[in-house]
Amino acid sequence: MGKITQIHLISLGGIHMSFASNSAINKKVNWGIMGTGWIADRFASDLQYVTNGEAVAVGSRTIESASKFAENMNIPIAYGTYEELVTDPNIDVIYIGTPHPFHIEHVTLALQAGKSVLCEKPFTVNAAELEKLIELAREKNVFMMEAMWTRFLPAIVKVREWIQQGCIGEVKQVRAEFGFQSEWNPQGRLLNPELGGGALLDAGIYPISFAAMIFGAKPIHISSTAEIGQTGVDEHFTALLDYGSGQAALLSGAVRLDLNNDAYIYGTKGHIHIPTFLYANEATLQVNDEDAQLFTAPRSSHGYAYEAEEVGRLILDGQKESSVISLDESLNIIRILDKMREQWGLKYPFE
Ligand SMILES: NC(=O)c1ccc[n+]([C@@H]2O[C@H](COP(=O)([O-])OP(=O)(O)OC[C@H]3O[C@@H](n4cnc5c(N)ncnc54)[C@H](OP(=O)(O)O)[C@@H]3O)[C@@H](O)[C@H]2O)c1
Repeated sequence: MGKITQIHLISLGGIHMSFASNSAINKKVNWGIMGTGWIADRFASDLQYVTNGEAVAVGSRTIESASKFAENMNIPIAYGTYEELVTDPNIDVIYIGTPHPFHIEHVTLALQAGKSVLCEKPFTVNAAELEKLIELAREKNVFMMEAMWTRFLPAIVKVREWIQQGCIGEVKQVRAEFGFQSEWNPQGRLLNPELGGGALLDAGIYPISFAAMIFGAKPIHISSTAEIGQTGVDEHFTALLDYGSGQAALLSGAVRLDLNNDAYIYGTKGHIHIPTFLYANEATLQVNDEDAQLFTAPRSSHGYAYEAEEVGRLILDGQKESSVISLDESLNIIRILDKMREQWGLKYPFE
């Protein structure tokens, strides 16, 4: 390998400057935050870096939790029920940060109130649930998107550009994984079947969505294996997705095993490496014998500001979905997860 040239992205408070040129720059969307857990905290805190939106209210199942969250995040209104949150006429879009088995109920609540929705991954626990939500969002004619935040990170946007420009030729293989060793907590969200636990829905959706970003979400053949642990959910898995024409993805996910978490894309003219691809703030392009190109995009936010900025831009522009992660693509990705669970005989108690 020769020397590495560096491309450094200049950022504005964590957001790429190109966002600042959108036509709706002077307008803002009003966000309502549903849930006050781990991810809601990070997402709400990242809204401070967003130029076209702000959090105007938070809703929780208890007023105590809503009030504490609102105070910490400097959000003006706290509601002690999700119903009050979604019926606040001042809110344009609801961010859903509740555990995945409740997404169907909570997204439905927001859509019925005529609100746009950004829903945490996985959108739903199975494809049948997501089909219903997509139908309702289209009937209500509001914006809806799965919070697949990784796709909006500048390093991942650059990777898509490199691929579209043919920098590595025809893409043949993708390898990606996301896994961590969580503590043994059978009641917690990660291992509890009642809360949709397991590696696939929590962590595994990231590498599967990553492969879908490159090859599409309709592999012709899926083979997978998982270890089903004591609580009855998958603690780790590996999947081989065959897309035909020699294109394939080897993917792993885990909630009881530390994985390396990098992603690699191999093409006929070179390859791309993304360290810790889920949180990517850099990527390297290696074209055959040329010097490697390192793209870096340091940020101040946790990384959720990019998806929020894009959702704001699309809503202000009157769009109903994102072309970066469309509703049909999210649905096809959940169909892959359904198929894999079928291969392992894993059904949740509420299914
Ligand atoms: N994008 C990412 O990087 C990322 C990271 C982690 C998790 N996630 C996703 O975000 C979702 C939430 O994960 P989390 O780790 O934030 O979970 P969490 O810390 O357990 O928080 C979930 C919140 O949902 C609300 N909730 C409503 N009904 C609930 C119920 N029956 N049981 C428990 N909580 C309930 C609670 O808020 P109130 O008490 O205020 O109502 C709770 O604080 C999951 O779908 C997960 O896959 C995404």
